[in-house]
Parts: sequence; structure tokens; C-alpha cells
Amino acid sequence: MREAHQDAVARVSEERLWRRHMEMARIGAIPGNGVNRAALSREDIAARGVLIGWARDRKFEVGVDAIGNLFVRRPGRDRAAAAVMTGSHMDSQPRGGRFDGIYGVLAGLEALQAIDEAGVSTRRPIELVAWTNEEGGRFPPCTMGSAVYTGARKLEDFLDVTDNDGVALRDALARTLAAAPGLALRPLNAPAAAYIEAHIEQGPLLENAGRTIGVVTGIQGLRWFNIEVSGRTDHAGTTPLALRRDALRDAVNIINALHELTRDAADAVRFTVGRMLVTPNSPNSVASHVLFSVDVRHPDPATIDRLGKAVEPAAKAAAKQCTVKVTPTLHDDPCGFDPGVVDAVERAANGLKLRSMRLPSGASHDAMYMARVCPAGMIFVPCENGVSHNEAENASAADLAAGARVLTAALLELANKDE
Ligand code: GLV
Ligand code: MN
Ligand code: MN
Repeated sequence: MREAHQDAVARVSEERLWRRHMEMARIGAIPGNGVNRAALSREDIAARGVLIGWARDRKFEVGVDAIGNLFVRRPGRDRAAAAVMTGSHMDSQPRGGRFDGIYGVLAGLEALQAIDEAGVSTRRPIELVAWTNEEGGRFPPCTMGSAVYTGARKLEDFLDVTDNDGVALRDALARTLAAAPGLALRPLNAPAAAYIEAHIEQGPLLENAGRTIGVVTGIQGLRWFNIEVSGRTDHAGTTPLALRRDALRDAVNIINALHELTRDAADAVRFTVGRMLVTPNSPNSVASHVLFSVDVRHPDPATIDRLGKAVEPAAKAAAKQCTVKVTPTLHDDPCGFDPGVVDAVERAANGLKLRSMRLPSGASHDAMYMARVCPAGMIFVPCENGVSHNEAENASAADLAAGARVLTAALLELANKDE
């Protein structure tokens, strides 16, 4: 590693990085050390404000695009060159932890600040992005900001998505954009030279293997659906079972059928129904309408394709009394990361004498969409017991800082390549 790059890496501050995590964790804090910071909520707006403040303190350029992705840029010597990008997300699951997403944003800011403090110039700009609505917990589907940024999906496709209270994304987005006026408006689809995302692993492999750095090789494929079951509401005490069109009963039939469809002795298929809206949702009324989510994942393209295609026929065949509508909301094939970026991450870990291993990601990330438009990769750090999407999610300050150092070194290498 060049001496100037070493100086920048040495300026990554474990203490500052941890302090910023704890400050962000106060925004949307919930009992049990968790965080509830739904996309485009008051808490998300507050977190954006804090990030913008830290970026402005360093005089970095701050911008925003039409879907609210937030950009923090340190210019390079060649102002026309496409940026090397890093980032992750600030929204959380409803009962999320203090590290999922926000780590990649704060590690990126730490890298920018360390490089800036060291006075290292880069040929390419380095740009941090905080993607809008990575989680999809409030407004499904997930990874929405990067899907729109990369042109994989259109913003208009998402504006009418509503949360559980009926609030439309278009209104929540407008409020979020209005809360941070005066930011430079960034175009969607701006070219990127490369993208590296830092994240907690969200699984147990690194911890079990005693490694500090995960060199991520790719992300498994996934399919999301909304399934709507429509029947008729009736009196729970008087209506004979044979005369009912009970939407909740058919929803259960469908979910059981999908469990059968996705049964896998190798335990590689992931199948989850995590969201259900029941109407009228009253103990003594038969449900007239149920909407539930389906999330299916697998690393093999042929398998996820087969399973994805089988969901609708299996759901329709399983319903006995009601009508069923199946709407696909997410269709992501497995992605392999760019060998050059994977090697750069591994080289950075080796250069810092950190024990690393290559591993695939079971969770989805915005890096998946960035991999469609530029060379991309990811850095994982361990999280305690592999627990994530849970208030108990935890990671050590030392591991978080180690990941930020690897990120800094890898960003510098990529931003000064081709000189
Ligand atoms: C992202 O949180 C995912 O669902 O994998
Ligand atoms: Mn995440
Ligand atoms: Mn998550």
C-alpha cells in the first residue's frame, strides 16, 4: 500500500465510528437496544439531517436524487471522472438493530473523512450514498433506491405503494425531500466507476471461523410477491363453515402449500411470509380479505427461477373458497461480484493483516443493483451470534473499524487506478 494511503487508513477512528453509531441508534431507538427507523419516516428524516450535518462539517458536497438517495462526495483531481462509490442504507426493520445498513453509511463517511484528514488526493471522486428504502419493511419491496438509481425499475412504479397505514410513498418521499431543502439535485443513472458496500454479515460464518473480514463473492437470488385472498365477511357465531368464504383460512392453506413447494432437504431454500394484513381484522368476523408477502431465495439461478414460477399456480391451487391474486414485487437473479473488486477487498484485508474469508451473502443489498452497472463488491464484518433483523443485533467497535479500514484502502486503490 502507498504511504499516503497508509496514512489515510491509520486515520480511521474506531472511537468516532462507534460514537456515530450510538448517536444514530438514538434516532428511532426501541426497547432492547433496537432501532425502528422506517424508510421516509420522521426518524429517517432525522438521520438524514445528522448525516448531512457531518458531511457539511467536512465541506463535502451533498446531493439528493429523485427517490431521495443521499450522496456525499469528495471530489477527485479529474472532475469529469466517474466516482468510486460506497454506501448502504439508514432505514431499518420495524424491530431492527443498530448496525444493519447504517454501518455501511458510517464506514463510508469514516473512509471519506480519514482520506480527507490525511490530505490524500484521488484521481476519481469518492462518493458515499445512503440508499432510500433498502429494507422495504414499510414500503415493499426492498432495495428500492438502488433499483431506481440504476434504472432497473422506474420511480413511477413505486409512487403509489402504500404502508400499513395507507400512506403513499409519493407523499412520504415529498415530505422527506422537503425536510432537506437546498441540496444539489443529482440525476438518476449517473455512471459509477466501482461500488463497494460495507455491512455486518447478518449470519454466523465469520464469527464461527474466527475471521474479521468477509470478502463477499455475490448475493443469492430472490423473488417477492404480494398475495391477496378475497372472500366474504360473515358472522363468526352464525355462519355455517360450509357457507363461508374465509380469506384467512385460504391464506393458511396457501402458506402451507408454499411451505411444501419450498421444502428442501439441503436447507438452501429460504421461504418467509413476514407481513399479513387482515380485513376486517376482528375476532368475531370472518376475514373477507387477506394480503400477505412471500419472500423466496436461493443462490442457484435455475432453482430460484423454478420456484418463482411455481408460486402463483401453487397459491391458486391451494385456495378452496376464495379468489387469489398474485402480484410479483421483486425479481432479482443471483449476482456474482466483480473479480477485480473482490480481489481489491481481499488485498486490502491482507495488507492490513486481517484474517479474512470469501463468502456469499444470504441477505440482499443495494450492491446487487450496483453490480448491474459497474464493478461491485462488499465487505462483511462479524455480528454477534449471526443475529440480525432483531433488536439484539450487535457488533464490536474493533471489527466495525477494521471493516472501515479495509473499505478505505480498497476505495483508495480503485479511485487511483488507471493513473
Ligand atoms: C434485506 O434486508 C434483505 O431482506 O435481505
Ligand atoms: Mn442492510
Ligand atoms: Mn436489513
